[in-house]
Amino acid sequence: MYPPRHSAPILVGHSPGIDALRRFIRKAGDSRSPVLLLGESGTGKEIVARAIHDVAGSGAFVPIDCSLLGTLLETELFGHTKGAFTGAISSKAGLIALAEGGTAFFDEIGEFPGEMQAKLLRVLQEKEIRPVGALETHKANFRVIAATNRDLAREMERGNFRQDLYYRLNVVTLHLPPLRQRKEDIPELAAHFLARCGSSHQLSSELLQTMAAYDWPGNVRELENCIQRMVAVNSGPLLTTVDLPSALAGPVEALLGAAPPIAEFEEKAPLSDPPRKPPGILRLDELECNAIADALRFTAGDRSRTAQLLGIGRTTLYRKIKRYKLA
Ligand SMILES: Nc1ncnc2c1ncn2[C@@H]1O[C@H](COP(=O)(O)OP(=O)(O)OP(=O)(O)O)[C@@H](O)[C@H]1O
Ligand SMILES: [Mg+2]
Repeated sequence: MYPPRHSAPILVGHSPGIDALRRFIRKAGDSRSPVLLLGESGTGKEIVARAIHDVAGSGAFVPIDCSLLGTLLETELFGHTKGAFTGAISSKAGLIALAEGGTAFFDEIGEFPGEMQAKLLRVLQEKEIRPVGALETHKANFRVIAATNRDLAREMERGNFRQDLYYRLNVVTLHLPPLRQRKEDIPELAAHFLARCGSSHQLSSELLQTMAAYDWPGNVRELENCIQRMVAVNSGPLLTTVDLPSALAGPVEALLGAAPPIAEFEEKAPLSDPPRKPPGILRLDELECNAIADALRFTAGDRSRTAQLLGIGRTTLYRKIKRYKLA
């Protein structure tokens, strides 16, 4: 009746923070209250959402990308009837209908478009939906879990997020601790990710010390990527600090080194100069492409953080990723 169930997520770690998380998951899973998960990027919000859903064990877990544009999001969420708009050659069920009896996971709820927030509030209050183009509404029974790495309370104070929607979602709240606050989990997480790559590599004690000294701004996702990259380039059996990506040695310096400031670059290469290209000088678009690739590596592919790091908007970042074929 429902889509096939995924295998249960394994929440690795035994720090006080993770143990508390496990207790919370059991409690929250048994209730049907909305849950709001707050935490930096890569801290495990989605894996925790899946774990909460799995406690009840009914229906499907349906992730919803809240950063879609308003009209697209509306048809994604509520579905549409045949002929509702040009190109709607057949009717289509929305994601909320797919989550019937299960969980709708609103990922990045902080990005939910302002003009759609009132509609979402109504759906959560009335528990009914109306597909785009339909005249009738129909009942919807689903559990809500929302997640964000933004300070949603501040977004509400600034008027970017509706107060009534905030309180409706914020019934049970959980803050996921960043990895730098539970470094004792690093060896267990590293072993878990090694096993997941099917690797029998060992980690040197010096490597574990370096990992413990690093702050992991990309959290568990960055650690996962780091392990995968080290395994890919080292035939084993021992991984040492030599195998670490450069970001761990000095992240900011590494990034600055990859992309010198443009003003300085222009001063040294005035337009009237003959088009010589001394070694080490790159075209501006090559510099830009390298800087984006480095920042993506550094953030372990997290596009919001990459855009922040580069000082550009997400839309601009998406455009450039496409242009340089970095995805
Ligand atoms: N405690 C954990 N045990 C095992 N794996 C974990 C744990 N926490 C996170 N991960 C893994 O780290 C990666 C990132 O986790 P997840 O996608 O849940 O983070 P997130 O908080 O949703 O990040 P974002 O805000 O960037 O979407 C995933 O591959 C996930 O399986
Ligand atoms: Mg996520």
